Amino acid sequence: MSYYFRTFKIKFILFNLVLSSVFLYKGKLRADDLQETERIFHTLCSTCHGKDGGGISDEDVQKLGLDKAPANFRDVQFSSREPKYVWKRVIRDGGERHGYSRYMPSFGNVLSEAQIDQIVRYIKGLGYDPSYPQGELNFTRAIFTAKAFPEDEFIYIGNYTKSKLVSYKQTFYFAKRIGNVYQVEFKNSFIHSSDFSGEFETGVKWNFLHLEHNLIISSFGFEVAIPYMSDEKWVYAPYLAFGKGFGNRFSFQISSKLMHSLVSKEIKLNLSSAFHFIPTVEVGRTIIPALEFLADYSPKEDYLVPYLVPQLYFSISKRGHLALNIGFKQPLRTSDEKFSVVGFLLWEYIDGWFFEGL
Ligand code: HEC
Repeated sequence: MSYYFRTFKIKFILFNLVLSSVFLYKGKLRADDLQETERIFHTLCSTCHGKDGGGISDEDVQKLGLDKAPANFRDVQFSSREPKYVWKRVIRDGGERHGYSRYMPSFGNVLSEAQIDQIVRYIKGLGYDPSYPQGELNFTRAIFTAKAFPEDEFIYIGNYTKSKLVSYKQTFYFAKRIGNVYQVEFKNSFIHSSDFSGEFETGVKWNFLHLEHNLIISSFGFEVAIPYMSDEKWVYAPYLAFGKGFGNRFSFQISSKLMHSLVSKEIKLNLSSAFHFIPTVEVGRTIIPALEFLADYSPKEDYLVPYLVPQLYFSISKRGHLALNIGFKQPLRTSDEKFSVVGFLLWEYIDGWFFEGL
């Protein structure tokens, strides 16, 4: 009983603290004044996020009666992952609206937009390390185009292809970020066609270029595909991935992959590119249309097949860490493949549990 009373009391005190200081500061702040921003942070945020923005102890989380540990802005990898516009909307609207804790208050009525921008810049500065690519460069995933950003995610990909035969392919994909610019990945595919076969793939990715201000990112990757229960041979596939943002609404990504079978010496080339349009950056749960253009080229067989893949990316959770993408792959000239329907379910597990923030 006393525990509940205490947490209630603390919440009440906290609420008053936030409220009174907000009235105190409203209109007083000059948007370009770092010291003022620091002072706002200390009055409004530091009770929960720590004096230096480095979070608070588990004990204090309990004492304050919070359901979750508030963000630690000095955690470099965490900070680098989050685009500024996401933090801005959380501060403006409060945690609950965007799938975070309801104890993260909303400040939209008490801080001006310029003040919120300043404070986002301030807390971003606390955990900034230029060797990490920033969240703004984590462009929306397309179905075929390789991403340049190092990821922590699970993806399930389903592929139905109508050619002379019908085939279904299911892929389970897991990617884990290592340090600031590396990523490892593991993939396993099951292919059901006239018979059953499988393929295991593993790879590494190295993000060698990220220009936050120009919204440019580029990475080099290397994959090895090991087929099993089939006559297919091992394939080595180095690739290059590039992404460019135009504001925070448009992004263009392109990747080119060379597939080389060491046994048959056969080489295939794949070029994939994707253009995404994000209709709004004000909410996480949204629908993002994209158009992907692919080309497969085999010098040995001398064929070149271009494809178009219109698709819709449904960001399911308010945080945007759970998403579904569905696309239709259409060859643009006569080929064995008539069409494919491809979709994936993506879970950025680092941003929360599967059902969190729905
Ligand atoms: C009453 C406690 C409390 C106060 C005061 C508070 N926060 Fe929070 N904040 C939280 C909690 C709890 C979370 C949510 C953590 C979660 O759900 O993962 C959070 C999350 C956030 C996030 C989202 C981070 C992410 O996970 O991406 C930002 C940004 C943020 N707070 C900024 C601020 C700023 C700026 C202020 C002051 C203007 C502030 N907070 C004041 C408790 C608080």
